Amino acid sequence: MKSFTKQFGPVTSVIGAQWGDEGKGKVVDLLAKEYDIIARACGGANAGHTIVVGDHKHVFHLLPSGCLHEGKQIVLGSGLVIHLPTLLEEIDLLQEHGIDIIDRLHISEEAHIVFDYHKDIDAALEIMRSKEKGQEIGTTKRGIGPAYMDKAQRVGIRMGSLDSDMRAELEQRAAFIKHAYNVTVHVDNELKQMQLSNNRIGKCIKNTAAFLHSSMENDQTIIIEGAQAVLLDIDHGTYPYVTSSSTTLAGALQGLGIPPRAVSSCIGVAKAYCTRVGSGLFPTEASEADATRLRDRGGEYGSTTGRPRRTGWLSLDDLSYVARINGFTHWNITKLDVLDEEHSIPFELQGEMQSMEGWTQKTAELREWKQLPKHAQKYIERIEKETNVPVAFIGTGQKREDMILR
Ligand code: IMP
Repeated sequence: MKSFTKQFGPVTSVIGAQWGDEGKGKVVDLLAKEYDIIARACGGANAGHTIVVGDHKHVFHLLPSGCLHEGKQIVLGSGLVIHLPTLLEEIDLLQEHGIDIIDRLHISEEAHIVFDYHKDIDAALEIMRSKEKGQEIGTTKRGIGPAYMDKAQRVGIRMGSLDSDMRAELEQRAAFIKHAYNVTVHVDNELKQMQLSNNRIGKCIKNTAAFLHSSMENDQTIIIEGAQAVLLDIDHGTYPYVTSSSTTLAGALQGLGIPPRAVSSCIGVAKAYCTRVGSGLFPTEASEADATRLRDRGGEYGSTTGRPRRTGWLSLDDLSYVARINGFTHWNITKLDVLDEEHSIPFELQGEMQSMEGWTQKTAELREWKQLPKHAQKYIERIEKETNVPVAFIGTGQKREDMILR
């Protein structure tokens, strides 16, 4: 058994390299056994990862996928925007299955609160964009953009205010929001949610940066679990069809208050092909027939919104760019088995579509590099060559164990 902390060092990060939904949860799950702390840095309930609790699959939006590992400390950092009812639901769901995380949950006092009115504004802005520009962003309507708008405008309400009386503030805001967006703020309801949340999670709210610093000084190890992915980054992504947070490693460090020199490795996660939900550029998008086949094989339907994902081929140009932005030290290529029936596998390199011969053999459930068909090995090696980053993990199926470790 390999020692991950030896291979990846005390502070490792897992960052999505495409437009999200790369399957970051699985490698986090694998690493989490050996690390002490799992920290989420940015974004909100726009994320979605499926976690099997008991016999059921559940989609979690706020808690990182490592939360099922008993005894691990869970951090929600300053860069997050938190919808309180969603967080309470997730905590309750875990509790129903006998998993109590309150005593090991650390929520930043600097994280911002997403209120229900932020979700309504999100929906109103999408309608406005669609009417005025003919194209909406295709947001998850979780209030992410409007919550970060408040943050940037320096009027956001943060988790540290959960125990304060915000009635006057919210009432004042309600008048403006009604005027600007024709959205109603249900002040009593929002206050009730705040109070309820304070009773449940008030004791988890703290200076999480200080918690992380002292943990590192005490030789505790950390996995930084990225949310969304780099092509959705507000600065480096396909603007304006992006999310409103910084989804890079640098953004995660900012969101957690950890210095760059503390990071020992950064694992980029990319599918062996590519998907995107929402509008915007997608140069390698497949023809309808190819997209439908890949979508069905890969189960490519949004876990937050249920939308069919747009599906296409790998862009090695994008992967190289993203690897450089983040300084990836390793790749996790996921869902290789989805390509098992393809005779020819297109990919983008230097702005042009090229293709490699497919392996047309089953790779699903393989656990060792040497078991992979030659053409599948060639495909992986091509990714390594063009991006100059070694592939450490290859996903070959849905189960936890379906992973090749190199
Ligand atoms: P927002 O983050 O809800 O504002 O959505 C902005 C864009 O990011 C939309 O295209 C969403 O589909 C996309 N997006 C946000 N979060 C995720 C994610 O976790 N996975 C995939 N796409 C996402």
